[in-house]
Amino acid sequence: MRLAHLTDLHLPIPARPKLAELMNKRALGYLSWTRNRRHRHQKEALALIVADCQREKPDFTAISGDLVNISLASEFSTGIQWLEENFDRRITAMTPGNHDAYIPLDWDAGAGRLGAYMGGERQGEAARSPRDETDFPFVRTIGAVSLIFANSSPPTAPGLATGRLGDGQLARIRSELTRLGEAGQCRILVLHHPVTDGATPRRKALDDAAALRAVLYETGVELILHGHTHRSIFSDIETSAGARPVAGGASASHPTAHGRYRPARYNLFTIEGDAPSGWRIDVDVRELDPASAAVKTAERRRLLPSPP
Ligand SMILES: [Fe+2]
Ligand SMILES: [Fe+2]
Repeated sequence: MRLAHLTDLHLPIPARPKLAELMNKRALGYLSWTRNRRHRHQKEALALIVADCQREKPDFTAISGDLVNISLASEFSTGIQWLEENFDRRITAMTPGNHDAYIPLDWDAGAGRLGAYMGGERQGEAARSPRDETDFPFVRTIGAVSLIFANSSPPTAPGLATGRLGDGQLARIRSELTRLGEAGQCRILVLHHPVTDGATPRRKALDDAAALRAVLYETGVELILHGHTHRSIFSDIETSAGARPVAGGASASHPTAHGRYRPARYNLFTIEGDAPSGWRIDVDVRELDPASAAVKTAERRRLLPSPP
């Protein structure tokens, strides 16, 4: 099974917002966009990454949030249109990032507008889209691989980009991982925020990361995917069955390297094996070469079994 993971796309803001739309936390976000972010995230770079991903024909594509920037109505309109033009919703799913929940909005007026790409099954329930931001996780199963999409992105106060799953989601993540583990599935948890300490400053971190790690220790998990830091992060967490890999994806829309950030990237995983004999998971980090506009493998790693 081949799985692509894209994150932190930050599609351009399509039109100048109305003043009334900026009378909140968006004012700062829009300033940051016009000064910096619009230069750091460009749709031409993203288009090259998406074209490479389409050529690779993965069995499934997971997108871990930050499709947009300040959650404007116009951004969700172009966001859903962009998804439909580029990804088949039958083999693609996403979960929101903090920029897709930038201010408190009714679910159907905010990230819920991307709901066509958030459909999935839940324990004992047929596939459907989430009813609101707490109606997660949902599960997508492709053969022996199951992806569990959690939502770590409730709206936050100005200056904050923290994440939170909450007790309800943590309980459902626990029961889904238990159920899928008993069924012998390869379980991949997808969320926006990093799960390891120190990956991001406190004001951008997942508040209940320790509680999530306690759940994962008990239930087990085969791989965790996240975004949010805009940099590639390979790490691991402890489970009762041993260390399990965490793969944080870099932004898929950086036109060039800047500071400690790489040009646009995405991760392409190959998953083989089965529960009794063990899973093998390898990853190719695909990166844009700004000079030639080609996308090449920058790094190849074995993630599972964990290297000694
Ligand atoms: Fe982001
Ligand atoms: Fe983020």
